[in-house]
Amino acid sequence: MEVFAAADWDVIGVSRAGGVVGSRGRQAVWDVTDDDVVALTEVLRDDPLDLLINNAGTGTPGTPLDDVDIQALLEVCDVNVGGVIRATRAVLPNLRAATDPLVINVSSRLGSVHDQRAGGGVL
Ligand SMILES: NC(=O)c1ccc[n+]([C@@H]2O[C@H](COP(=O)([O-])OP(=O)(O)OC[C@H]3O[C@@H](n4cnc5c(N)ncnc54)[C@H](OP(=O)(O)O)[C@@H]3O)[C@@H](O)[C@H]2O)c1
Repeated sequence: MEVFAAADWDVIGVSRAGGVVGSRGRQAVWDVTDDDVVALTEVLRDDPLDLLINNAGTGTPGTPLDDVDIQALLEVCDVNVGGVIRATRAVLPNLRAATDPLVINVSSRLGSVHDQRAGGGVL
C-alpha cells in the first residue's frame, strides 16, 4: 500500500479489524467472508477502480488426507475463494468504470496449475 501511495495512487485499505488506512485516509472495514459488501462499496462510491488486489488469505497446516478437518478446509475456501469472488463482484461497476482495470489475486503454491501438474500440491 505504501508503495502505491508513494507513487501517487489513491489507495483504499481494506481489513476486517480496521486500522488499515490507505492514502487520503481511505479505508473499508470488511471481512471477506461477509456477504454484506456495503462497507466496501460505500467507500468506493462510483469511483473508477484501476486495480484490485485480493490479498486476504488463510490456510490450514499440511495434513494427511485421513486427518483433514473438512469444516476448517471449507472455512479456508470461504476466505481464499469466496472472498475473491465477493470482493471482485462487489467492485465490478468500479472496475468497469476504469479505462484499463486490473485484478491481482494473491494465491499460493496450492493454487498453482503449474505446480499441481508437476505434483507439487499438498493439502
Ligand atoms: N507467506 C506465505 O508463505 C504465503 C504462502 C502462500 C500463500 N500466501 C498468501 O499470500 C497472501 C498474504 O499472505 P501473508 O503471508 O502476508 O499472510 P498474513 O500476514 O496472514 O496476511 C493475510 C491477511 O489476510 C487477512 N485476512 C484473513 N482472513 C480474512 C478475512 N476473512 N477477511 C479479511 N481479511 C482477512 C488477514 O487479516 P488479519 O490481519 O485481520 O488476520 C491478513 O491481513 C495470502 O493470500 C496468503 O494465503 C502466503
